[in-house]
Amino acid sequence: MTKITNICCIGAGYVGGPTMSVIAQKCPDIKVTVVDLNEARIAAWNDPDTANIPIYEPGLDKVVAEARGRNLFFSTDVDEAIDEAEMIFISVNTPTKTYGSGKGMAADLKYIELCARQIARVAKTDKIVVEKSTLPVRTAEAVKNILQNTGNNVNYQILSNPEFLAEGTAVEDLHSPDRVLIGGDTTEEGQAAIQALVDIYTRWVPRDRVLTTNLWSSELSKLTANAFLAQRVSSINSLSELCEHTGADVSEVARAIGTDSRIGPKFLKSSVGFGGSCFQKDILNLVYIARSYGLREVADYWEQVIIMNDHQKRRFANKIVKTLYNTVSSKKIAFLGWAFKKDTNDTRESAAIYVADDLLNEQAGIAVYDPKVAETKIYDDLDYLNTRPSDANKQLLTVYTDPYEVCKDAHAIAILTEWDEFKDYDWQRIYDNMKKPAFVFDGRSLLNVDKLKEIGFKVYTIGRE
Ligand code: NAD
Ligand code: UDX
Repeated sequence: MTKITNICCIGAGYVGGPTMSVIAQKCPDIKVTVVDLNEARIAAWNDPDTANIPIYEPGLDKVVAEARGRNLFFSTDVDEAIDEAEMIFISVNTPTKTYGSGKGMAADLKYIELCARQIARVAKTDKIVVEKSTLPVRTAEAVKNILQNTGNNVNYQILSNPEFLAEGTAVEDLHSPDRVLIGGDTTEEGQAAIQALVDIYTRWVPRDRVLTTNLWSSELSKLTANAFLAQRVSSINSLSELCEHTGADVSEVARAIGTDSRIGPKFLKSSVGFGGSCFQKDILNLVYIARSYGLREVADYWEQVIIMNDHQKRRFANKIVKTLYNTVSSKKIAFLGWAFKKDTNDTRESAAIYVADDLLNEQAGIAVYDPKVAETKIYDDLDYLNTRPSDANKQLLTVYTDPYEVCKDAHAIAILTEWDEFKDYDWQRIYDNMKKPAFVFDGRSLLNVDKLKEIGFKVYTIGRE
């Protein structure tokens, strides 16, 4: 297989954008073109001021500034980029299906299939096609089938190279990954294709961190990794409820078990519930796959991770209602944070959306401040749930751009995202301007409880009596 000099990536989203920017940064001799159908997104990636790129990730603006225009390009001309490239990454979205069979569970692979058909139509020279999107195990078989049966008789090799970056730390994770996983065919041609991709990553990743497997192990490992991570969060969250009934403190329990080197300290932070575009979608997909093989116990086992997460979000909203004397009707509840975690402007599946929806059902007036999430996004998130008309959402929920204004005259504050800046606010000033008694519901165990109590707040922290 020839040395790769030209890469195309279909999909300029949270994965395609950052991963290709880093590949371009580390391999200045390889031309990397990221393409997308979404013109506004591509225009934002091309904005001369890198502060306006469409994804907020610490450090990403600098990487883009270094490589863009040199060997990194963003374009809407998908055909041209496919035609020129020797290696094509597919990094399009694979959301949970919202229709037909598998609705609400299976991954919707229509965008993947469209990409495969487009590659087959356009390609005139041999290509290595790399699955970067998270896909159900054995998707490569379908991709291969489409390419080989509808193409122009060119040779294709399919690789699976799932992405393990976490949002908020994407650049760091890409610069220094725990591992890079590459799956491919066991044939000689398959191994050569794997080697071509290994040669790209080993420009900056130590060789022993680049794992190579067969296609199916690679595809399944991605779903498994997310399921294991989410399972840890649901496990500690399940115990947070028990802590609240017994006087144990969930952060002390997490520390105590996390120091066992077999358990380890990460992903044991109790919270209002995990969010993000991956965990729920990938576990639902895993459950669906297990059911489709008739593996009922396996499916039920993993489904419980989602059930526990839904329970945790609902429990938080219920706690607010119950504590505020069983009614939040017409009361102002200030939300600090809307993103699904700190250091990202992504709100997909954020716990804040569901907690807000529950409280809006109770006729609360919600006021939101998030340092990075735009007002339109917040309304779109709520409208997407379809619980009530869009007008009603706009009437009941107000978005603020100032943290002190959002808390002014509020009956309660709920911390939904662990943004660092929340810790440094003038909490005395916030207290003075709130209705009394002034409540704080800390869904992220972020704030100093003793300090807040000293000021006069009534504080609820997840996992503490
Ligand atoms: P995204 O929605 O941010 O980006 C996907 C992009 O693909 C969109 O901009 C869309 O317009 C574009 N697209 C869809 N079909 C297209 C087509 N036919 N031609 C050109 N462009 C097309 O999604 P994302 O968060 O980047 O996720 C992409 C994949 O990576 C998913 O499978 C996801 O599960 C996986 N993943 C995501 C993360 C994460 O942190 N977001 C991490 C690891 C893996
Ligand atoms: C996740 C995986 O970590 C990453 O490897 C994969 O590529 C994509 O999915 P991401 O969703 O971006 O990444 O963020 P992550 O840090 O995993 O957090 C997911 C959710 O779990 C967030 O809502 C976060 O707040 C929550 N979480 C995480 C907890 O509640 N407690 C924890 O201890 C860790």
